[in-house]
Amino acid sequence: MTKDGPSPTATIEGLVATTATDAHLAAVLPWMALETWGYSLEDLERIRSWDAQANRVLLDRGRMVAFLSTFTYGTVGWVGNVITDPARRGSGLGRAILAEGVRYLQHSRGVRQVALYAYGHTRTFYERQGWAAQGPVRVFCGTLRSPPTPPKDLQVGPLDAADLAAASALDRRAFGADRALVLADLHARPTSRCALVRDHAGRLAGVGFIRDDGAELLLGPVVSTDEGSARALLAYLCAPFCGARALAISPLSNRTSADQLAELGLLPVDAIHLMTLQGALPWQPRYLTAAGAPEKG
Ligand SMILES: CC(C)(COP(=O)(O)OP(=O)(O)OC[C@H]1O[C@@H](n2cnc3c(N)ncnc32)[C@H](O)[C@@H]1OP(=O)(O)O)[C@@H](O)C(=O)NCCC(=O)NCCS
Repeated sequence: MTKDGPSPTATIEGLVATTATDAHLAAVLPWMALETWGYSLEDLERIRSWDAQANRVLLDRGRMVAFLSTFTYGTVGWVGNVITDPARRGSGLGRAILAEGVRYLQHSRGVRQVALYAYGHTRTFYERQGWAAQGPVRVFCGTLRSPPTPPKDLQVGPLDAADLAAASALDRRAFGADRALVLADLHARPTSRCALVRDHAGRLAGVGFIRDDGAELLLGPVVSTDEGSARALLAYLCAPFCGARALAISPLSNRTSADQLAELGLLPVDAIHLMTLQGALPWQPRYLTAAGAPEKG
């Protein structure tokens, strides 16, 4: 298994599949801007800081024609930022870059299953490549308003570095994949606010994050073992940001999260799908108030 060694290069349908260079990262940003994904070079470089070969490209006679990012969450691989040259859509490049992402995650990173979030209009594209839709996920957006007062028997406060391992274990049980790397990165970022909640007996009951992404705040992951803890986390995380625009994603099957997010001023605006290859992700939607968007870290 290669981790940080030389780039694993392959040939897929006559195209060269390899690791994105600085020039490729710069060249893909205008493609992403057309989709209004709100990506910066810093976002793509952060993905690369987690795995030097995470950003994959397809080259046709040396020219980039398709791009995607990969993430290794323990034994689960994640795919994001799937995009092809806008001038060459519908010619098989999407299918080929997806095959490259799966090949890289399985052969170079040793993952057992792969997952991604798909926009509603691309669900069929993934299903045609053998992916299964595991469940709808709602996108919530709005202007944050004053959170309701949380239950008094819970202790909520900043997440200390010493609690990161326990927080990551809780997140792993809820999300179904090990995102410890992402959580540590979020914790280290100056633009993040991180919170932890304990129950009356001092047991860890939840962890949550919100961060300033420039255009808006990204809320998530927010993971908790019960509704009261989720409420306490949301109140603590959002209190300083009243009046700011925020975005969160949450599994449709978590009914209470929709109410809690609405209380904060966030309403459903879109639906995406969790798609998986080689088996369902063992995630627990009832513990996921905000699932977090791995593509943005
Ligand atoms: C989605 C995207 C990556 C597909 O790439 P592409 O190069 O156009 O796709 P391909 O030509 O490889 O198509 C592969 C198959 O999927 C089908 N397909 C492609 N886009 C589709 C769509 N939006 N809806 C349904 N089917 C689609 C094709 O008809 C083709 O079917 P076939 O195997 O029966 O021939 C590309 O349209 C894109 O970059 N879109 C903008 C970014 C985006 O939305 N990315 C997805 C994020 S979830």
